Amino acid sequence: MRPDDLKFPFTGNERYTFLSNKIWFIPWLPLDSDTFAFPGWSHPDVFGNDNPVCVEYCSGNGAWIAEKAIEFPLINWVAVEKKFARARKIWSKIKNLELANLIVICGEARNATKLYFGDQTIEDLYINFPDPWPKSRHAKHRIIQKEFVQEMWRVLRDGQSLTFVTDDPPYSEWLIEIMGGDPGFASQFPEPFFVNEQPNYGSSYFDELWRAKGRAIRYHQFKKLKM
Ligand SMILES: C[S@@+](CC[C@H](N)C(=O)[O-])C[C@H]1O[C@@H](n2cnc3c(N)ncnc32)[C@H](O)[C@@H]1O
Repeated sequence: MRPDDLKFPFTGNERYTFLSNKIWFIPWLPLDSDTFAFPGWSHPDVFGNDNPVCVEYCSGNGAWIAEKAIEFPLINWVAVEKKFARARKIWSKIKNLELANLIVICGEARNATKLYFGDQTIEDLYINFPDPWPKSRHAKHRIIQKEFVQEMWRVLRDGQSLTFVTDDPPYSEWLIEIMGGDPGFASQFPEPFFVNEQPNYGSSYFDELWRAKGRAIRYHQFKKLKM
């Protein structure tokens, strides 16, 4: 299967939520008449088992999460990617590698989480190389915002964690400030609250790109505290 074997399912603005064939479309502005009801991760149309569910937001072409799905077949993996052109690259990996334990959400991370992820239903969350939005007037577009941190706290199981990887020092500082101000999370790394190497973490398109350019990578991990 090639990525372009998956055609964009909508014409015009008539968009609705549906999950079929390992891809879950969650439009930003669905029709008012959208009647989609998420059947739960263990439903046969999703994973068909009760294995733990881990989510990667901002998956890009899915290189990191496809590797994880192969390495950890008893974990169910969910890739969340807003751009269809990238989501269908993940979809073609799922098909070609026959990854029964990976699905892709083509949708915006915060919207998908708020609308469909239940309380304490996610084992671990990962965000690898999110768009840094370096200009301060664009910072509101960063995926890490106080409200979203609270949503991630809501969906994570107690004691589980969020891992965040970036090459961008200002974004790292932004994350540390927001997470540090949230009593629901504790950094797993002492000051400066990140490490530059994480053996066996896995690699992604942007990881390889920035390492090739000599940039230092920062790995952060925050554990959910019971409140
Ligand atoms: C810099 S790329 C990193 C891709 C991949 N994680 C990697 O390391 O190669 C960031 C990706 O996040 C996606 N993205 C940005 N904001 C998003 C959001 N709010 N919800 C879902 N995807 C998002 C972009 O479309 C893009 O594919």
